[in-house]
Amino acid sequence: MKRTYFITGTDTNVGKTSATLALMTYFKQQNLSVVGMKPVASGCEKIDGEWRNSDALAIQKMGSQFVDYSLLNPYAYELPISPHLTGKENPVDLEKIFANFQTLQNLADVVVVEGAGGWYAPLNDNETIADLARKLNVPIILVVAIKLGCINHALLTVEAIQHSGLNCAGWIAVCNAANFFCVDLTIESLVARLKIPLLGVFPYSEQADFEDLAKRIKFD
Ligand SMILES: Nc1ncnc2c1ncn2[C@@H]1O[C@H](COP(=O)(O)OP(=O)(O)O)[C@@H](O)[C@H]1O
Ligand SMILES: [Mg+2]
Repeated sequence: MKRTYFITGTDTNVGKTSATLALMTYFKQQNLSVVGMKPVASGCEKIDGEWRNSDALAIQKMGSQFVDYSLLNPYAYELPISPHLTGKENPVDLEKIFANFQTLQNLADVVVVEGAGGWYAPLNDNETIADLARKLNVPIILVVAIKLGCINHALLTVEAIQHSGLNCAGWIAVCNAANFFCVDLTIESLVARLKIPLLGVFPYSEQADFEDLAKRIKFD
């Protein structure tokens, strides 16, 4: 059976890419074939004449098979600003993303899709990440960066995901704040309040080891 997940976060820079790469590694460790997708990326550099985003390149590299870049990242915007601002000339079309997503689903057992920004991040003048996730209609995994303020952000985001009518399969705690000294109690407080499973805790680490992070993921 095909499995797919959409990775969102409490904000940008919270660990969505780390979680996506760790989940891809996890599925490879389960002997499943996996490909990733980063449908909309802001902040690209030109490589051999084409705009390329570092998240999307890492996701491409992590796949169990080669996938053409434009399939996994159809919207690669130069500027590191919201897609609805940088994408005026070539706005996001959810139908195109959906078509690419279906092609990817036919290529592997598992597809892991990294969102952009948080749940209500605008993708074009009318649509947000929530609309994209609804279009793909797959379970959501919420990434929470463990820091002051994250409990409020996590509760708001889970409520918004549920308001969108989607299933939140669980959340991942990413401890990416070097100087935050209240990690354990904050995670405990989140566990007590979020009514979705905690799928893994990624400790602070300067250098990501995705084989190790994957071993910290547990699905029921
Ligand atoms: N476990 C971790 N420990 C320390 N830093 C981390 C960890 N996970 C992610 N980071 C760092 O946090 C930042 C945001 O992570 P990233 O996965 O790129 O987030 P997003 O995809 O949500 O923007 C990056 O600089 C990344 O290197
Ligand atoms: Mg990212």
